[in-house]
Amino acid sequence: MIETQHKYILHDAFQPMAIEEQSVDLVVTSPPYPMVEMWDEMLGKYDKNIETALLDGMGMDAFEYMHRLLDRCWTSCYRVLKPGGFACINIGDATRTIDGRFRLYSNHSRVLQSCMALGFDVLPSILWCKPTNSPTKFMGSGMLPGGAYVTMEHEWILILRKGGKRVFNPEERQRRRESAIFWEERNKWFSDQWTDILGTTQKLGMKSDRKRSAAYPMEIPLRLISMYSMYGDVVLDPFSGTGTTALAAILSGRSSINIDIDQQMLIESSKLPSKRETKGILNNLLASRLSRHLQYVYAKDMLFFKYRNQGLGIPVKTQQEKELYLYPIKSISRSNDIIRAKYQKWKKSTLSRIITQE
Ligand SMILES: C[S@@+](CC[C@H](N)C(=O)[O-])C[C@H]1O[C@@H](n2cnc3c(N)ncnc32)[C@H](O)[C@@H]1O
Repeated sequence: MIETQHKYILHDAFQPMAIEEQSVDLVVTSPPYPMVEMWDEMLGKYDKNIETALLDGMGMDAFEYMHRLLDRCWTSCYRVLKPGGFACINIGDATRTIDGRFRLYSNHSRVLQSCMALGFDVLPSILWCKPTNSPTKFMGSGMLPGGAYVTMEHEWILILRKGGKRVFNPEERQRRRESAIFWEERNKWFSDQWTDILGTTQKLGMKSDRKRSAAYPMEIPLRLISMYSMYGDVVLDPFSGTGTTALAAILSGRSSINIDIDQQMLIESSKLPSKRETKGILNNLLASRLSRHLQYVYAKDMLFFKYRNQGLGIPVKTQQEKELYLYPIKSISRSNDIIRAKYQKWKKSTLSRIITQE
Protein backbone atom coordinates (compact mmCIF):
# COMPACT_ATOMS: atom_id res chain seq x y z
CA MET A 1 0.00 0.00 0.00
CA ILE A 2 1.24 3.50 -0.78
CA GLU A 3 1.68 5.95 2.07
CA THR A 4 2.78 9.54 1.66
CA GLN A 5 4.03 12.26 4.00
CA HIS A 6 3.65 15.99 3.57
CA LYS A 7 5.89 18.33 5.52
CA TYR A 8 5.30 22.05 6.00
CA ILE A 9 8.44 23.96 6.88
CA LEU A 10 8.78 27.60 7.90
CA HIS A 11 11.98 28.66 6.17
CA ASP A 12 13.57 31.31 4.00
CA ALA A 13 14.07 29.61 0.64
CA PHE A 14 16.87 32.08 -0.15
CA GLN A 15 18.91 30.36 2.55
CA PRO A 16 20.27 26.80 2.25
CA MET A 17 17.57 24.21 2.98
CA ALA A 18 17.95 21.44 5.56
CA ILE A 19 17.01 18.82 2.98
CA GLU A 20 19.33 15.96 2.16
CA GLU A 21 21.30 16.23 -1.06
CA GLN A 22 19.76 14.25 -3.96
CA SER A 23 16.62 13.31 -2.02
CA VAL A 24 13.91 15.04 -4.07
CA ASP A 25 12.44 13.70 -7.32
CA LEU A 26 10.60 16.79 -8.54
CA VAL A 27 10.38 20.50 -7.79
CA VAL A 28 7.08 22.19 -8.63
CA THR A 29 6.89 25.82 -7.65
CA SER A 30 5.91 29.38 -8.40
CA PRO A 31 8.18 32.00 -6.81
CA PRO A 32 7.41 35.64 -6.12
CA TYR A 33 7.66 37.27 -9.56
CA PRO A 34 10.40 39.94 -9.70
CA MET A 35 9.20 43.41 -10.76
CA VAL A 36 5.55 42.54 -10.12
CA GLU A 37 4.69 45.22 -7.58
CA MET A 38 2.95 42.97 -5.06
CA TRP A 39 6.33 41.34 -4.31
CA ASP A 40 8.48 44.53 -4.10
CA GLU A 41 8.18 44.87 -0.34
CA MET A 42 8.74 41.20 0.44
CA LEU A 43 11.80 40.88 -1.81
CA GLY A 44 13.04 44.30 -0.67
CA LYS A 45 13.34 42.98 2.89
CA TYR A 46 16.14 40.65 1.81
CA ASP A 47 18.22 43.22 -0.02
CA LYS A 48 18.01 46.96 0.52
CA ASN A 49 19.56 47.56 -2.91
CA ILE A 50 16.16 46.59 -4.36
CA GLU A 51 14.31 49.50 -2.76
CA THR A 52 17.12 51.92 -3.58
CA ALA A 53 17.19 50.84 -7.23
CA LEU A 54 13.41 51.20 -7.52
CA LEU A 55 13.48 54.65 -5.91
CA ASP A 56 16.33 55.70 -8.21
CA GLY A 57 14.38 54.57 -11.26
CA MET A 58 16.91 51.81 -12.04
CA GLY A 59 14.43 49.11 -13.05
CA MET A 60 16.95 46.68 -14.53
CA ASP A 61 19.13 46.88 -11.42
CA ALA A 62 16.16 46.11 -9.17
CA PHE A 63 15.26 43.20 -11.48
CA GLU A 64 18.78 41.80 -11.22
CA TYR A 65 18.94 42.11 -7.41
CA MET A 66 15.59 40.34 -7.10
CA HIS A 67 16.74 37.51 -9.35
CA ARG A 68 19.95 37.10 -7.37
CA LEU A 69 17.73 36.15 -4.43
CA LEU A 70 15.80 33.60 -6.51
CA ASP A 71 19.11 32.24 -7.84
CA ARG A 72 19.93 31.08 -4.32
CA CYS A 73 16.76 28.99 -4.26
CA TRP A 74 17.49 27.44 -7.67
CA THR A 75 20.95 26.50 -6.35
CA SER A 76 19.32 24.65 -3.44
CA CYS A 77 16.81 22.97 -5.75
CA TYR A 78 19.65 21.70 -7.93
CA ARG A 79 21.47 20.34 -4.88
CA VAL A 80 18.49 18.45 -3.40
CA LEU A 81 17.20 17.04 -6.70
CA LYS A 82 18.17 13.49 -7.60
CA PRO A 83 20.00 13.00 -10.91
CA GLY A 84 17.38 12.95 -13.65
CA GLY A 85 14.91 14.83 -11.43
CA PHE A 86 12.81 17.64 -12.89
CA ALA A 87 12.13 21.21 -11.79
CA CYS A 88 8.94 22.85 -13.09
CA ILE A 89 8.91 26.58 -12.40
CA ASN A 90 5.79 28.63 -13.04
CA ILE A 91 6.70 32.27 -13.59
CA GLY A 92 5.20 35.28 -15.31
CA ASP A 93 7.12 38.09 -16.95
CA ALA A 94 6.45 41.61 -15.68
CA THR A 95 5.64 44.85 -17.47
CA ARG A 96 6.19 48.07 -15.61
CA THR A 97 6.78 51.77 -16.01
CA ILE A 98 9.77 52.99 -14.04
CA ASP A 99 11.03 56.54 -14.31
CA GLY A 100 8.63 57.11 -17.21
CA ARG A 101 9.88 54.10 -19.22
CA PHE A 102 7.52 51.23 -19.88
CA ARG A 103 9.26 47.90 -20.52
CA LEU A 104 9.18 44.15 -20.14
CA TYR A 105 11.10 42.44 -17.38
CA SER A 106 11.61 38.97 -18.77
CA ASN A 107 11.60 36.84 -15.64
CA HIS A 108 11.40 33.54 -17.46
CA SER A 109 14.54 34.16 -19.52
CA ARG A 110 16.50 35.32 -16.46
CA VAL A 111 15.49 32.16 -14.54
CA LEU A 112 16.45 29.98 -17.51
CA GLN A 113 19.86 31.65 -17.71
CA SER A 114 20.49 31.07 -14.05
CA CYS A 115 19.35 27.45 -14.13
CA MET A 116 21.46 26.69 -17.20
CA ALA A 117 24.50 28.10 -15.40
CA LEU A 118 23.77 25.77 -12.49
CA GLY A 119 23.86 22.75 -14.79
CA PHE A 120 20.17 22.13 -15.45
CA ASP A 121 19.20 20.92 -18.92
CA VAL A 122 16.46 23.16 -20.27
CA LEU A 123 13.56 21.29 -21.89
CA PRO A 124 10.70 22.76 -23.94
CA SER A 125 8.59 25.08 -21.80
CA ILE A 126 4.82 25.28 -21.50
CA LEU A 127 2.90 28.50 -22.09
CA TRP A 128 0.02 28.70 -19.68
CA CYS A 129 -2.38 30.86 -21.72
CA LYS A 130 -4.83 32.92 -19.70
CA PRO A 131 -6.86 35.02 -22.11
CA THR A 132 -8.55 37.96 -20.45
CA ASN A 133 -11.70 39.74 -21.57
CA SER A 134 -11.03 42.76 -19.42
CA PRO A 135 -11.85 46.00 -21.26
CA THR A 136 -8.65 47.52 -19.82
CA LYS A 137 -6.37 44.76 -21.06
CA PHE A 138 -4.74 46.85 -23.79
CA MET A 139 -1.91 49.08 -22.68
CA GLY A 140 -0.52 52.24 -24.18
CA SER A 141 -1.70 54.57 -26.92
CA GLY A 142 -4.83 52.73 -27.97
CA MET A 143 -5.53 52.91 -31.69
CA LEU A 144 -2.56 55.20 -32.41
CA PRO A 145 0.50 53.34 -33.69
CA GLY A 146 3.89 53.32 -32.07
CA GLY A 147 2.92 53.56 -28.43
CA ALA A 148 0.64 50.60 -27.73
CA TYR A 149 1.79 47.38 -26.14
CA VAL A 150 0.86 43.77 -26.63
CA THR A 151 -1.15 42.35 -23.73
CA MET A 152 0.49 39.56 -21.80
CA GLU A 153 -2.01 36.74 -21.54
CA HIS A 154 0.31 33.92 -20.57
CA GLU A 155 2.69 32.70 -17.92
CA TRP A 156 5.57 30.30 -18.34
CA ILE A 157 6.06 26.85 -16.94
CA LEU A 158 9.78 26.21 -17.30
CA ILE A 159 10.80 22.56 -17.44
CA LEU A 160 14.33 21.71 -16.35
CA ARG A 161 16.11 18.45 -15.72
CA LYS A 162 19.12 17.74 -13.57
CA GLY A 163 21.31 15.95 -16.07
CA GLY A 164 20.27 13.09 -18.34
CA LYS A 165 17.28 10.76 -18.16
CA ARG A 166 16.36 9.18 -14.84
CA VAL A 167 17.40 5.56 -14.47
CA PHE A 168 14.74 3.23 -13.01
CA ASN A 169 15.46 0.07 -10.98
CA PRO A 170 13.03 -2.91 -11.30
CA GLU A 171 10.84 -1.77 -8.36
CA GLU A 172 10.68 1.74 -9.80
CA ARG A 173 9.85 0.38 -13.24
CA GLN A 174 6.71 -1.22 -11.74
CA ARG A 175 5.73 2.01 -9.96
CA ARG A 176 6.33 3.89 -13.18
CA ARG A 177 3.90 1.67 -15.09
CA GLU A 178 1.20 2.24 -12.43
CA SER A 179 1.87 5.99 -12.62
CA ALA A 180 1.19 6.16 -16.35
CA ILE A 181 -1.27 8.76 -17.64
CA PHE A 182 -4.08 8.18 -20.13
CA TRP A 183 -3.34 8.54 -23.84
CA GLU A 184 -5.63 11.55 -24.25
CA GLU A 185 -4.10 13.19 -21.16
CA ARG A 186 -0.66 12.78 -22.75
CA ASN A 187 -1.94 14.45 -25.92
CA LYS A 188 -3.27 17.43 -24.03
CA TRP A 189 -0.75 17.83 -21.23
CA PHE A 190 2.40 17.40 -23.32
CA SER A 191 1.40 20.28 -25.55
CA ASP A 192 3.46 23.47 -25.21
CA GLN A 193 0.31 25.55 -24.73
CA TRP A 194 -2.19 25.04 -21.95
CA THR A 195 -5.28 26.98 -22.91
CA ASP A 196 -7.88 25.30 -20.72
CA ILE A 197 -6.75 26.36 -17.23
CA LEU A 198 -8.35 29.61 -16.26
CA GLY A 199 -7.03 30.49 -12.85
CA THR A 200 -9.38 29.38 -10.11
CA THR A 201 -9.79 26.12 -8.29
CA GLN A 202 -11.17 24.42 -5.22
CA LYS A 203 -9.02 25.25 -2.22
CA LEU A 204 -10.30 22.94 0.52
CA GLY A 205 -11.54 25.66 2.84
CA MET A 206 -8.51 27.91 2.41
CA LYS A 207 -9.55 31.33 3.67
CA SER A 208 -6.58 33.48 2.73
CA ASP A 209 -6.88 36.14 0.09
CA ARG A 210 -5.98 34.48 -3.20
CA LYS A 211 -4.66 37.76 -4.59
CA ARG A 212 -2.19 38.09 -1.76
CA SER A 213 -1.26 34.43 -2.02
CA ALA A 214 -0.98 34.42 -5.84
CA ALA A 215 -2.04 30.79 -5.78
CA TYR A 216 -2.02 28.81 -8.99
CA PRO A 217 -4.88 26.49 -9.95
CA MET A 218 -4.49 22.97 -8.63
CA GLU A 219 -4.70 21.60 -12.18
CA ILE A 220 -1.19 22.97 -12.78
CA PRO A 221 0.71 20.99 -10.10
CA LEU A 222 -1.63 18.03 -10.65
CA ARG A 223 -0.59 17.76 -14.29
CA LEU A 224 3.09 18.46 -13.65
CA ILE A 225 3.29 15.88 -10.88
CA SER A 226 1.67 13.24 -13.10
CA MET A 227 3.91 14.16 -16.05
CA TYR A 228 7.26 14.24 -14.26
CA SER A 229 7.13 11.92 -11.23
CA MET A 230 5.63 8.66 -10.09
CA TYR A 231 3.82 7.19 -7.07
CA GLY A 232 5.90 7.42 -3.90
CA ASP A 233 8.22 10.15 -5.26
CA VAL A 234 9.04 13.28 -3.28
CA VAL A 235 7.93 16.70 -4.57
CA LEU A 236 9.39 19.94 -3.23
CA ASP A 237 7.73 23.36 -3.36
CA PRO A 238 10.08 25.99 -1.87
CA PHE A 239 7.41 28.75 -2.22
CA SER A 240 4.37 26.75 -1.18
CA GLY A 241 1.93 29.61 -0.36
CA THR A 242 -1.56 28.22 0.06
CA GLY A 243 -0.26 24.67 -0.33
CA THR A 244 -1.65 23.91 -3.78
CA THR A 245 1.33 21.71 -4.67
CA ALA A 246 0.95 19.79 -1.40
CA LEU A 247 -2.71 19.05 -2.11
CA ALA A 248 -1.90 17.96 -5.63
CA ALA A 249 0.82 15.67 -4.22
CA ILE A 250 -1.61 14.17 -1.67
CA LEU A 251 -4.07 13.51 -4.44
CA SER A 252 -1.39 12.02 -6.69
CA GLY A 253 0.16 9.63 -4.18
CA ARG A 254 3.45 11.53 -3.95
CA SER A 255 5.11 12.83 -0.77
CA SER A 256 5.88 16.52 -0.51
CA ILE A 257 8.03 19.09 1.26
CA ASN A 258 6.48 22.53 1.41
CA ILE A 259 8.43 25.61 2.39
CA ASP A 260 7.20 29.15 2.91
CA ILE A 261 8.44 32.21 4.78
CA ASP A 262 4.91 33.33 5.69
CA GLN A 263 4.00 31.55 8.91
CA GLN A 264 0.31 32.33 8.70
CA MET A 265 0.12 31.03 5.16
CA LEU A 266 1.95 27.88 6.19
CA ILE A 267 -0.36 27.25 9.15
CA GLU A 268 -3.44 27.71 7.00
CA SER A 269 -2.12 25.62 4.15
CA SER A 270 -1.36 22.67 6.42
CA LYS A 271 -4.85 22.72 7.97
CA LEU A 272 -7.26 20.07 6.81
CA PRO A 273 -10.90 21.18 7.14
CA SER A 274 -12.07 17.72 8.20
CA LYS A 275 -10.78 14.31 7.35
CA ARG A 276 -14.01 13.27 5.70
CA GLU A 277 -14.34 16.44 3.69
CA THR A 278 -10.73 16.35 2.55
CA LYS A 279 -10.84 12.73 1.59
CA GLY A 280 -14.17 13.25 -0.16
CA ILE A 281 -13.04 16.24 -2.20
CA LEU A 282 -9.77 14.64 -3.22
CA ASN A 283 -11.36 11.35 -4.16
CA ASN A 284 -14.02 13.17 -6.15
CA LEU A 285 -11.26 14.87 -8.12
CA LEU A 286 -9.73 11.49 -8.76
CA ALA A 287 -13.08 10.04 -9.80
CA SER A 288 -13.54 12.92 -12.21
CA ARG A 289 -10.21 12.07 -13.87
CA LEU A 290 -11.52 8.57 -14.39
CA SER A 291 -14.86 9.92 -15.60
CA ARG A 292 -13.11 12.18 -18.12
CA HIS A 293 -11.34 9.13 -19.53
CA LEU A 294 -14.62 7.24 -19.77
CA GLN A 295 -16.32 10.15 -21.53
CA TYR A 296 -13.44 10.10 -23.99
CA VAL A 297 -13.85 6.35 -24.49
CA TYR A 298 -17.61 6.54 -25.04
CA ALA A 299 -17.24 9.35 -27.57
CA LYS A 300 -15.01 7.19 -29.75
CA ASP A 301 -15.35 4.01 -31.73
CA MET A 302 -14.51 1.08 -29.42
CA LEU A 303 -12.12 -0.33 -32.03
CA PHE A 304 -9.90 2.68 -31.29
CA PHE A 305 -9.04 1.22 -27.88
CA LYS A 306 -6.88 -1.83 -28.35
CA TYR A 307 -6.22 -2.70 -24.70
CA ARG A 308 -7.99 -3.14 -21.40
CA ASN A 309 -6.63 -1.65 -18.21
CA GLN A 310 -5.99 -4.49 -15.77
CA GLY A 311 -6.87 -2.86 -12.42
CA LEU A 312 -9.73 -0.60 -13.51
CA GLY A 313 -11.20 -2.86 -16.18
CA ILE A 314 -11.69 -0.04 -18.68
CA PRO A 315 -10.61 0.34 -22.32
CA VAL A 316 -7.33 2.15 -22.99
CA LYS A 317 -5.54 3.08 -26.17
CA THR A 318 -1.99 1.84 -25.57
CA GLN A 319 -0.16 -1.00 -23.90
CA GLN A 320 1.57 1.55 -21.60
CA GLU A 321 -1.80 2.28 -19.95
CA LYS A 322 -2.55 -1.35 -19.08
CA GLU A 323 -1.19 -1.09 -15.53
CA LEU A 324 -2.12 2.56 -14.93
CA TYR A 325 -3.91 2.91 -11.58
CA LEU A 326 -5.50 5.82 -9.75
CA TYR A 327 -5.30 5.22 -6.01
CA PRO A 328 -8.09 6.73 -3.91
CA ILE A 329 -7.19 7.99 -0.43
CA LYS A 330 -8.07 5.61 2.40
CA SER A 331 -7.16 7.84 5.30
CA ILE A 332 -5.61 11.20 5.91
CA SER A 333 -4.32 12.52 9.21
CA ARG A 334 -2.28 15.37 10.56
CA SER A 335 0.12 15.49 13.45
CA ASN A 336 2.30 18.50 14.18
CA ASP A 337 3.36 19.79 10.78
CA ILE A 338 3.07 16.53 8.90
CA ILE A 339 0.10 15.24 6.97
CA ARG A 340 0.04 11.52 6.32
CA ALA A 341 -2.09 9.88 3.64
CA LYS A 342 -2.74 6.23 2.98
CA TYR A 343 -4.15 4.90 -0.25
CA GLN A 344 -6.06 1.80 -1.25
CA LYS A 345 -7.52 0.06 -4.26
CA TRP A 346 -10.99 1.19 -5.37
CA LYS A 347 -13.88 -0.63 -3.76
CA LYS A 348 -15.55 -2.63 -6.52
CA SER A 349 -18.88 -0.91 -5.84
CA THR A 350 -17.40 2.61 -6.09
CA LEU A 351 -15.54 1.79 -9.25
CA SER A 352 -18.57 0.29 -10.94
CA ARG A 353 -20.66 3.31 -9.84
CA ILE A 354 -18.16 5.66 -11.56
CA ILE A 355 -18.07 3.46 -14.63
CA THR A 356 -21.82 2.99 -14.97
CA GLN A 357 -22.53 6.70 -14.38
CA GLU A 358 -20.80 7.49 -17.67
C1 LIG B 1 3.54 33.01 -6.00
S1 LIG B 1 3.34 32.60 -4.32
C2 LIG B 1 3.19 30.84 -4.38
C3 LIG B 1 1.74 30.41 -4.47
C4 LIG B 1 1.54 28.91 -4.42
N1 LIG B 1 2.00 28.26 -5.63
C5 LIG B 1 0.06 28.61 -4.21
O1 LIG B 1 -0.57 27.99 -5.06
O2 LIG B 1 -0.47 29.06 -3.20
C6 LIG B 1 4.93 32.82 -3.67
C7 LIG B 1 5.08 32.41 -2.22
O3 LIG B 1 6.48 32.56 -1.89
C8 LIG B 1 6.54 32.91 -0.52
N2 LIG B 1 7.89 33.48 -0.29
C9 LIG B 1 8.35 34.69 -0.62
N3 LIG B 1 9.64 34.81 -0.26
C10 LIG B 1 10.00 33.63 0.30
C11 LIG B 1 11.20 33.12 0.84
N4 LIG B 1 12.29 33.86 0.92
N5 LIG B 1 11.20 31.84 1.30
C12 LIG B 1 10.09 31.07 1.23
N6 LIG B 1 8.91 31.52 0.75
C13 LIG B 1 8.87 32.77 0.28
C14 LIG B 1 5.40 33.86 -0.31
O4 LIG B 1 5.03 33.91 1.06
C15 LIG B 1 4.30 33.22 -1.21
O5 LIG B 1 3.49 32.38 -0.44
